[in-house]
Amino acid sequence: MRRRNFFKKERNAEYDYLVTYEQPLSYVAEAFQKALVNLEYINIDNQFKVIQFTSTLAGAGKTTFISNISHLMGKKGKKVVIVDLDLRKPKINRIFRAPNEKGVTDYLTGKIDYKTLVNYSEKLNIHYIVAGEKTTAVVNVLEAQKLKDLITKLKEEFDYVILDSPPIIAVSDGLYISRLADGVIFVVAQNETKRSVVDEAINTLRRNNVNIIGTVFTQVSVKNSDLLAYTYGYGYGYTSSLMDEQSKE
Ligand SMILES: Nc1ncnc2c1ncn2[C@@H]1O[C@H](COP(=O)(O)OP(=O)(O)OP(=O)(O)O)[C@@H](O)[C@H]1O
Ligand SMILES: [Mg+2]
Repeated sequence: MRRRNFFKKERNAEYDYLVTYEQPLSYVAEAFQKALVNLEYINIDNQFKVIQFTSTLAGAGKTTFISNISHLMGKKGKKVVIVDLDLRKPKINRIFRAPNEKGVTDYLTGKIDYKTLVNYSEKLNIHYIVAGEKTTAVVNVLEAQKLKDLITKLKEEFDYVILDSPPIIAVSDGLYISRLADGVIFVVAQNETKRSVVDEAINTLRRNNVNIIGTVFTQVSVKNSDLLAYTYGYGYGYTSSLMDEQSKE
């Protein structure tokens, strides 16, 4: 079994290796399964259709988590669409080995229609929308009524609309995106993120009335690399209780 290559740590990693697809019986895939079950419990009344994933800093594992969880949702018969709203550093296209063309920005400027915008990967059973042509007017894009209308349309067609977004600390994009979402899941790289930085990001989200519905812990590592496959897992919990507990410490 290829234990060490579940995830590649290089920042320009290839994204077309989906562990839940390639190694569905692995420990890591099992951890994703558990995360999905937790998400289903949180979402028992189906009130969260549009779910945004964000983090404090870059590289926490948002895109990796999103693609794996979406694949598992699809396997359970759910119709899922991933929307790449990380307009500055788009990566969703890489998962599908697709070019970052004919995406959100192109749709909003009227260059392409809805049918061209929404792609489908038969292999992974996921619908996806790439970010599209780079723009300097990112905030204008994220605030556009046409984007809100697009999300509404997707909501009608899909069981889950998953929004990939940039980290909270670097730019305010994540906050604008949260206005489009029913709930936000916060991804924390446990061994890399300082608690104070996480607190700062959570407080920023709360001040902006963002509905944080859960936390995913990624990149729990140990010194012995043989154990990586086992320990690179995803914990999952309710952010509110987690943070309340932490603030008491
Ligand atoms: N649970 C994990 N354990 C170890 N490495 C991981 C894990 N999840 C992702 N990685 C690796 O960490 C790197 C960053 O992951 P990813 O791109 O998914 O993070 P991100 O939060 O989307 O980053 P960005 O903020 O830049 O968009 C990748 O190389 C990925 O393979
Ligand atoms: Mg990402």
